Amino acid sequence: MAQKIRKAVFPVGGLGTRFLPATKALPKEMLPVVDKPLIQYAVEEAAAAGIEEFVFVTGRGKQAIEDHFDISYELDQTLGARGRVDLVDTLRSWMPDPGQITYTRQMDPLGLGHAVWCARKYIDDEPFAVLLADDLVLADKPCLQQLIESYHTKPGNIVAAMDVLPEHTDRYGILDIEEDKGQLVSVKGLVEKPLRRNAPSNLAIIGRYILMPEVFEHLSKKNTGAGGEIQLTDALAKMVNSTPFYGLRFDGRRFDCGDKVGFLEANLAFALDRDDMKKAVERLVKSYT
Ligand code: G1P
Repeated sequence: MAQKIRKAVFPVGGLGTRFLPATKALPKEMLPVVDKPLIQYAVEEAAAAGIEEFVFVTGRGKQAIEDHFDISYELDQTLGARGRVDLVDTLRSWMPDPGQITYTRQMDPLGLGHAVWCARKYIDDEPFAVLLADDLVLADKPCLQQLIESYHTKPGNIVAAMDVLPEHTDRYGILDIEEDKGQLVSVKGLVEKPLRRNAPSNLAIIGRYILMPEVFEHLSKKNTGAGGEIQLTDALAKMVNSTPFYGLRFDGRRFDCGDKVGFLEANLAFALDRDDMKKAVERLVKSYT
């Protein structure tokens, strides 16, 4: 039986330049979609999929993330004094237990592959998940859960995948497909951000991965790729001949919250998905059309 996925890595060291000035003093992962920061969606998704250890690879100026996953005594006391114990309970309900979260600093922003490599001591020798908080997925069954279920029937590396417009292949890691079974695709190669004319397909990697620990051996070579960065995609490409490799066209809708329009759309979609907001937001949207 495939080993249980207990640990997840959250690379949260990025600068968020596309959202300046909002991200000058605020980590981009703390930007809220409706009323919840992006990183909380990712952590809740991981917890719902059975993750027990959360490894954050952070950087300078990211303290707000640590504070978010900590108890705020002043806030709890004030809310308690105002008779809002219900809110205190809600605020604590989604927090992992003490000791379940580890923080390590990336120190040098050398790329996603480097960020994941920074988590190697905490992951050690077991398969693990990676979640990119920028990619928000609205789904009945959380995207990571879908990947984990798929991994248990077909163990190996598995990435969330989505068909993108051919002219957008240069924004993503792109899969070279060996066999396409509709939802599950077996993969014979990966390329980071290829131009349309060089792309092996238009099936893109979305920020959810289940990876075998051997990836760290490849990442430790610190080879640079697209954009001069140490790319996770390149390390994964080295594994296709030795490790079964799959892409899963997940069920759900993905929002690119690293992009302004994508972020705005996520806010709209998540608000429309909430019973307490749906009607008001529908009215609002109508008034703009
Ligand atoms: C990263 C990965 C890329 C993947 C993308 C998904 O790119 O390098 O392979 O397709 O996330 O969002 P980034 O968006 O950080 O440039």
